[in-house]
Order: sequence, then structure tokens, then C-alpha cells
Amino acid sequence: MNDSMKVSQKELLLEKISQRTLRVAVIGLGYVGLPLVTTFAKAGFRVTGVDIDQNKVERANKGESYIADIPSSLLRELIDEEKLGFTSDFSALDEQDAVIVCVPTPLGKTRDPDLSYVLSATQRIKEHLHSGQIITLESTTYPGTTDEIVLPELESTGLRVGVDFFLAFSPERIDPGNPDFDVHNTPKIVGGVTSDCTELARTLYSSAIEQIVPVSSTRVAETAKILENTFRAVNIGLVNEIAIICDKLGISVWDVIDAASTKPFGFMKFLPGPGLGGHCIPVDPHYLSWKLKTLNYNTRFIQLATEINTSMPDYVVEKIGEALNEQFRSFNGSTILLLGVAYKRNINDVRESPALDIMQKLKTKKSTIVYNDEYVPSLVLDDETLYSQPLTQELLQTADCVVVVTDHSYYDVPWIVRDAKYIVDTHNVTKGYSNKNILRI
Ligand SMILES: NC(=O)c1ccc[n+]([C@@H]2O[C@H](COP(=O)([O-])OP(=O)(O)OC[C@H]3O[C@@H](n4cnc5c(N)ncnc54)[C@H](O)[C@@H]3O)[C@@H](O)[C@H]2O)c1
Repeated sequence: MNDSMKVSQKELLLEKISQRTLRVAVIGLGYVGLPLVTTFAKAGFRVTGVDIDQNKVERANKGESYIADIPSSLLRELIDEEKLGFTSDFSALDEQDAVIVCVPTPLGKTRDPDLSYVLSATQRIKEHLHSGQIITLESTTYPGTTDEIVLPELESTGLRVGVDFFLAFSPERIDPGNPDFDVHNTPKIVGGVTSDCTELARTLYSSAIEQIVPVSSTRVAETAKILENTFRAVNIGLVNEIAIICDKLGISVWDVIDAASTKPFGFMKFLPGPGLGGHCIPVDPHYLSWKLKTLNYNTRFIQLATEINTSMPDYVVEKIGEALNEQFRSFNGSTILLLGVAYKRNINDVRESPALDIMQKLKTKKSTIVYNDEYVPSLVLDDETLYSQPLTQELLQTADCVVVVTDHSYYDVPWIVRDAKYIVDTHNVTKGYSNKNILRI
């Protein structure tokens, strides 16, 4: 292909973007993918969501949302306007001009990156890759993934990056449950393999998202995302350690944080809690550690923060033990009521939730575990399915210890404080109460 044809390929894509005739596919319709398909469809594109999970595809096609931040009415509206459709048939990629990958990037059993989902999505794209396509990867991953893993696979078709197809990395920054920031108004980083890749990806995203931040390479984009999440993991690790320190000093960590937060510069408020959860903060820093191990470098901050954060469920169980001790009771035979099992407030995600670790530890100690979480009707713990119990006065009064694990906003704190025998509060929701039967971390 000569230079003038290269320009026309790029120009054609730019024209399709500006006319909204560009067809967009999103692979992986989870917490990231589903909001993204609606964002592009709302911007006027015809969007196809692709997922291997038949159940999700069927539900989405019926206009039934399974992600709390996306109303079913929005899905139905966009489907009715023929802006949105869902499939598990990858041959739909033949008709797409842009393909955006939002598949999971978890850790494997040995806590190493598990890129199997990215690899399998890349294989499927490769089978349908054609000239004049923009491919972007959004899944959080270690620096080098786009260049070293995705690119060679796609170029093995004989098509050339920056000439026939355009490849970029653009990390998703979605914050489930955040009422102020969604995909549309969160600035989006874009780093392409070539400058044309960056330009096309930037133009594509800028037609649906308010602010785009182009960077010099895919590696910069990949590393920026991991820096953001490592920054959170390390600062949460620090404040969790400060919580343990304050406990030893006999002072309230919450008072200390409130006081420090009055400094108008140079301090950023992070809060302690029962441990890290979700698909991102506890996982992503390990992608960086793993990559750096291959370069013979030990990422010490990540290691230390992980050590502290993963010890927090033990710390909570220690506090539950203190609460039981005060009542002359042991773990064995006591009923412990967990309020909230989602990894953070007002969402339904229990992935990596510290509640699961706390439950596991209580189970080993032979306590009876009961939980309430209106966002999580059931969960599986060691092959056993537990169901959320209605939060009644009787339930509160029968529990030997009530543990606030997630600070969902629907909890009526004054009522809980009045009726619970003993409370372990991991989020300071009982701020202002000086009752002797409340232990805070
Ligand atoms: N959840 C968040 O808050 C968040 C925020 C920013 C970034 N991320 C990153 O975004 C990526 C996706 O996360 P998520 O939370 O949306 O995951 P998720 O598990 O909610 O959704 C992923 C979807 O991909 C589908 N899938 C897996 N393999 C597939 C394949 N080969 N082809 C088609 N579909 C496939 C799954 O069935 C699932 O529906 C991860 O890398 C994550 O780290 C997540």
C-alpha cells in the first residue's frame, strides 16, 4: 500500500467518525464494557456489544441491565433507536470499524497476571481483522502488553499497524457507584503504537468523551493506569497502618485524619477500612510487580502495601474477638452479623471483597455467619451459598457482634447503634457515638 492510500485509509476513518457512520464493537460487557457501549451509542454511533457470556448478551438484548450504574431504561431506549445490539457471535466483528477490548485481567493462582482473556479476545479480533480498523485495549495490564502481546498477534495476519489497522491502549477509569464521574466526563488517556494510531483513537474517543489525554506511547498509557491504582493501594496501605498505630497509641485514627485533612495543601485524605476489594486496586499493582520482576527489580512499596492491606481482615477479626471477649463469649457458637459484603459502598460487586476473607476466618473459628447486603442477595463461600437476610430488629438483637464491613448509605445507623449488642465499625459510620459497645478500627 502506498503513502497516498495510507492517508486515505486514515481519512476514511476520520470521516466515518465525524459522520457517526463508524461501527463500534466492544468486547467484554462487564462493569467497564456495558457503560462504554451506552456512552458510544448515546454519542450517535451504532454499537455492538460482544460477550462470551450468553446470559449477559440475552439480558442486555432484552434491555435488562445487570450493572447498577446503567439503567435498564437507557438500554431499552438505545436498542429501540437501533443504536445498540448485543451478540456472542464474533463474526459481527467483520462489519466493525472500531473494536474496543474490555475483558478481565485477573491474577492467576500464583498471583501472576492472567492474560488469557486478553489473548483469547485478541485471537477473535485477529480472525476478523481487516484493513481500516481501529483496535483499542482498555483492560488494565502491565506495561508492554499492547506492543509485545497484542500487536504481534494482529500483525501475524500480514496486515500492518499504522498502515492497515490502528492499535492503541486507552485505560478505563470507571469508578462504579460514583455519582459525579462516569465514562463521559472522566478524562481518558490514549496512547497509540504509532502517531496515527494515537490520533485515530483520540478522535474516536473524543466523539463520545469530554476530555482526551493523548500520550507518547502505549507503555506510558499502560503505566499511567497502574500508577493511579498503585497510588491508591499504597496510600490506603499507609492509612491502614496508621489505624493500627493509633489503636496502639489509644487514639482515634478518624480524629487524626480529620485533623490532618484541615491542611489545605500537601495532604490527601485516604481512609482506613477492612481491606482492599474489587477487580482493580488489589490486583493491578501485581501486574507492575510481575513485569518488574522480569527486569530483576523488586517493587518494594507495592509489596509492603499489599502486606498491610491483606492483613486488615485479620485485624477486623481481632476486633470482633475483643467485642466477644467483652461479653464473655468465644467465636465458637457466637453469631456474627456482617453489614455489607460488597467491596465498597452502594455497589453490588464482591470481587476480592474483604468481607469474604472475614467470613472465611469466622467460619474457621466456628462462628455462625449472617449477612445483610441489599446489593448482594447471595454469595458463595466454600461451595456454600449464603443469602442476605432482611435487617430486622430481631436480627440485630440476636447477633453477638454486628460488623460494619461496607458503609452502604441505606444503613440506618442510629437504629443499628440502639439495637446491636456490640458493633465493630470499620468505616466510622458510628462517628459521634461514644457508646462503650462500639469498637472502631
Ligand atoms: N470494574 C472496574 O471498576 C474497572 C475500572 C477500571 C478498569 N477496569 C479494568 O477493565 C477490565 C474489565 O473489567 P470489568 O470489571 O469490566 O470485568 P468484568 O468481569 O465485569 O467483565 C468482563 C466481561 O468480559 C467477558 N469476556 C471475557 N473473556 C471474553 C472474550 N474472550 N470475549 C468476549 N468477552 C469476554 C466476560 O464474560 C465479562 O462479561 C479489567 O482489565 C479491569 O481491570 C475495571
